[in-house]
Amino acid sequence: MRIWSLLLFAFPLLGAANEPILPLEPEIGLDADKVSLGRSLFFDKRLSRGSQVSCASCHQLPSHGADVKPLSSGVNGALGELKTPTVYNAALNIRQAWDGRAQALYDQIDSPILNPKEHDMTWPEVVAKLNQDKTLVAQFTRVYSQGVTQHTIKDAIATFEGALITLNAPFDLWLKDKSVKLPRSAIAGYELFKRYGCISCHQGRNVGGNMFAKMGTFGDYFGDRNTPIQKADYGRFNVTGNEQDRFVFKVPSLRLASKQAYFFHDASHSSLESAVATMAKYQLGRNISDSDINKLVAFIDSLAGHHHEMDLENHE
Ligand code: HEC
Ligand code: HEC
Repeated sequence: MRIWSLLLFAFPLLGAANEPILPLEPEIGLDADKVSLGRSLFFDKRLSRGSQVSCASCHQLPSHGADVKPLSSGVNGALGELKTPTVYNAALNIRQAWDGRAQALYDQIDSPILNPKEHDMTWPEVVAKLNQDKTLVAQFTRVYSQGVTQHTIKDAIATFEGALITLNAPFDLWLKDKSVKLPRSAIAGYELFKRYGCISCHQGRNVGGNMFAKMGTFGDYFGDRNTPIQKADYGRFNVTGNEQDRFVFKVPSLRLASKQAYFFHDASHSSLESAVATMAKYQLGRNISDSDINKLVAFIDSLAGHHHEMDLENHE
């Protein structure tokens, strides 16, 4: 034990390597011109019917990449069926969307563009609309020899999203160097997170996003919920058609959970405390004390890092 502490003192990174959670690192090697083009497309309402919404309307970057409302509205105010997850750190997820239907960020972009309740467009319409803007075409051509196409639009947006990694979370700084101060409640919460087994699902660098699990492993979450079951609640079943995938969702990252306004795919909870209590009950089959809930919340809060986009006002 004593030798270990000495080693940890001498090589702080060795400490991180022994933990089930790893610190986030900046994405390296992204093309800066593509990131900047992707950023302007992310805010560009022309990608939607009647130029009504952009990616940033629902994924509000200053609000940690998600929506401040339980369900987001797309063109003509159409209300979505699932909570908008954050785009920050989405690049680290094994698959995209609650049901994991998109393999990568690049593929995921078809969903919002084509969804009648989101952008409500077709790709030929988007490409034709953007090609009318000669300045934009010139910007594209400097970066992509093909100019403005479905592929280059998706590639630029996905590259921008790849840059949205949150850094320097208090927990990450502590992981890298245990002499850094982290609130005692957060450290206690991390121990509980491992001991209770939250870590068996929310794991890896993104503290989630790398596996699927049923909502209601230890109880009938949907039966107990006071709203009727909808198709969107079937989760991964809607993609695979396998009965064992009914009510299965991608385990969300907890990196920015403490900054979100609503929790779960159905946006059924508006406090992190009650979301944690619900997790303990339905995913681990236990009732945990308020004091433990508060520690878990302090730990989750320490996972939130920062990205400079969060300091900017939305272009809306
Ligand atoms: C009308 C609101 C709305 C708009 C506009 C919108 N999204 Fe989303 N986004 C959502 C919702 C809701 C989900 C969850 C959908 C699902 O899981 O089926 C989502 C999911 C995602 C995800 C998956 C994140 C994860 O962790 O699984 C990414 C990435 C994403 N959107 C990027 C974009 C991009 C890029 C655009 C613009 C081209 C965009 N979104 C436009 C509401 C929106
Ligand atoms: C069996 C796997 C599993 C375990 C164990 C588990 N979770 Fe989850 N967690 C999930 C899944 C799946 C979801 C998404 C459920 C949904 O949206 O309906 C989720 C969602 C959450 C959310 C909401 C995140 C968001 O963005 O909406 C929080 C917070 C959370 N879990 C915390 C915890 C904590 C704390 C523990 C331990 C007490 C825990 N989880 C244990 C699988 C698990």
